[in-house]
Amino acid sequence: MARLKVGVLISGSGTNLQALIDNCARADAESEIALVLSNRADAYGVTRAERGGLPHGVIDHRGYDSRAAFEQALSETLESSGVELVCLAGFMRVLTAEFVEHWRDRLINIHPSLLPAFKGLNTHARAIEAGVRFAGCTVHFVRPEVDNGPIIVQAAVPVLDDDTAGTLAARVLREEHRCLPLAVRLIAQGRVSVVGERCVIDAVAPGGALINPTPGPQEKGPEPCGSGPLVTGVGRR
Ligand code: GRF
Repeated sequence: MARLKVGVLISGSGTNLQALIDNCARADAESEIALVLSNRADAYGVTRAERGGLPHGVIDHRGYDSRAAFEQALSETLESSGVELVCLAGFMRVLTAEFVEHWRDRLINIHPSLLPAFKGLNTHARAIEAGVRFAGCTVHFVRPEVDNGPIIVQAAVPVLDDDTAGTLAARVLREEHRCLPLAVRLIAQGRVSVVGERCVIDAVAPGGALINPTPGPQEKGPEPCGSGPLVTGVGRR
């Protein structure tokens, strides 16, 4: 079967791009990276693409008079490479509704929170501030409203009491590197359909699009109820 041609848009370090590169290196991969585009020449992800021997380019948004002109250049370049699915992997430009509609259900994004919670920036600091017990990441089809759209894959991680935005970000990022390749694999296998504004994942065991690991040995979570010393907390007398 022909491999799904994937285009990856980046702006930064490109660790999620690397996860996709590694996924496509599998002998039985159902997808291939047809093009990597960055809007920044100095993004380390460009070096990753180079090292991986992948077709890549830089389209700097500052070289265009309007967002529409920049996006037209993106679309034309992606299409001339035969791209069928576009992955936003740390691409730090807001896209217009026209671009998003043009690529409707062929455009996915990885976001570092359990959407629909914590859309936007600084997700980890905001999750800690809100006192949530779980954080995570989401891969979703893109819709014109930022960080919105049918959810394909999510992973949950615990938020520990001594977490900083940095430690939580690192824990979530490890899961991002599993979620994005998984979402691409599911799409390439033809298992994902959008019904209404929800994704239905076909012929995958329950949990196939859900990753919720328990804390590893280096991340000591709380003692389970009943197995540790009693802790005097709020409400205890
Ligand atoms: C990731 O946390 C992703 O969720 C967010 O931007 C970051 C990109 O990281 N959208 P990288 O460039 O893939 O390392």
